[in-house]
Amino acid sequence: DLANQLLGLNSQEKQLAQRLGIDKCLIVRGDSSDDSNVMKQLGSVLNETLAKMLPEGNNTIVAMGGSTMAIVAKELTPVLSDKRTLMFVPGRGGIGASVAKQANSVCSTMAARTGGQSKSLYIPEQLSKDTYHPLLNEPSVKAVLELIASGNVAIHGIGRADDMARRREVDSATKEMLREQKAVGEVFGCFYDKEGQIVYRVSRIGLQLEDAQKFNHVVAIASGHDKADAIQAYMNFAPKQTVLITDEGAANVILKK
Ligand code: G3H
Repeated sequence: DLANQLLGLNSQEKQLAQRLGIDKCLIVRGDSSDDSNVMKQLGSVLNETLAKMLPEGNNTIVAMGGSTMAIVAKELTPVLSDKRTLMFVPGRGGIGASVAKQANSVCSTMAARTGGQSKSLYIPEQLSKDTYHPLLNEPSVKAVLELIASGNVAIHGIGRADDMARRREVDSATKEMLREQKAVGEVFGCFYDKEGQIVYRVSRIGLQLEDAQKFNHVVAIASGHDKADAIQAYMNFAPKQTVLITDEGAANVILKK
């Protein structure tokens, strides 16, 4: 029955958190690699999690991009604005062709769904070294970067290395290097291998891994059996306060190892 099913998931969540060495895991039924409806469930769980997690008053929530983030953003509800003022700030600039997957779009959706506000960061995420430094001092960029630094909550996806190399349009020599180094995942512009060693880092503007360590709350959302390696390896160096929202597809693969 339902109560038993929930108890089953509950003990699986505890096992997974222990295995990954983080505070908390939340698991939804199903496998998003096979069933795209599962991702919406991740969004509902994100909404419940934020409702419990966010303190009353002003909250600055830094959100990243990606296809998972784009789907879960739509599941947030105005309940989050109860006794709170929410400001959603993109944690990165733009990458790849899809507008819907940008952190700017995710923030705008989250603000619209919850009755909060959002900011935009109108820069490409990956910049040549010559462009990078002057842009940091551009007033419109600087203002958003300061908001990012003042954030109390970060929400991000975890990507597969091969998918992210493609989306970031890395050159073929770098792609080859990532294959040789056996990169399995990417978060915050850091590509890493199975042991959680960072093998390549994209120079980019926005929230860095080191900044996330200082946030009160970090929520990672990634699911599906095909992301199991990327999720597991990331947790080797993820901020300890990270709460992982995932599905049975990923959890079963990790727990079977
Ligand atoms: O950095 C990781 C990516 O944002 C994950 O993107 O949800 O489209 O796989 P994805």
